[in-house]
Amino acid sequence: LTARDLAGRTIMVTAGPTREEIDPVRYISNHSSGKMGYAIARAAARRGARVILVSGPVNIPAPPGVELVAVSSAEEMRRAVMGRVGKCDAVIKAAAVADYRPLERTASKVKKKAGELTLHLTRNADILAELGSLEKHPFLVGFAAETDNLEAYAAGKLKEKNLDMIVANDVSQSDAGFNVETNRALLLFRDGRRLECPLMSKEELANVILDQLCAGMGNGALP
Ligand code: PMT
Repeated sequence: LTARDLAGRTIMVTAGPTREEIDPVRYISNHSSGKMGYAIARAAARRGARVILVSGPVNIPAPPGVELVAVSSAEEMRRAVMGRVGKCDAVIKAAAVADYRPLERTASKVKKKAGELTLHLTRNADILAELGSLEKHPFLVGFAAETDNLEAYAAGKLKEKNLDMIVANDVSQSDAGFNVETNRALLLFRDGRRLECPLMSKEELANVILDQLCAGMGNGALP
């Protein structure tokens, strides 16, 4: 029997990649499948939360009982998140948001020419940092996708983005991170605690994250 320990809570989860359009037929994106974020959304709904799932383009159906907000670009995700954060008790940012977008999106297809093509990119807003800078913000859980210096980079993001918790995953491993069924993570907390999560299914990791979130928000004892 699943504990209904998130009943009465509203949790926003972001999942999947973003797409940054170059022209009507091309875009820049990444390998996120949405599996991690959707596992969290499904587990949170099972545990009784009202779940808002802000998702980039993926090939997984929305879990039952979850409110799906479909977006494409980082800017669309930003607007969807910032417009709904006021009613949330927690935000979990599992999405792989593009840090850059093409400076210009051309209205017609870019034609091939001889020689090299230079694409100019500009920075996207950091949604998580914007959430962390709100005067009154919900419980904030970020992710850190790293290929090296996992703990140091994740600790930096936890502090800089003013998060309550960060889930650091080493995406250079073939059984963790992008587009696989399993993950392995290091959870870091605002109070300096750390929790190593060995290889497990994304569903199991989702429940570990939610156990910690529940404890952090003052629901029940630490597992
Ligand atoms: O979707 P899957 O295939 O299951 O893969 C899961 C995953 C690898 C995508 C997931 O576990 C993960 O690590 N997600 C975060 C990916 C990421 O963008 O990490 P980052 O270290 O670049 O960003 C740090 C945090 O800031 C993330 O919570 C991200 O959502 C957020 N961010 C980043 C950039 C930006 N412009 N806005 C943001 O909010």
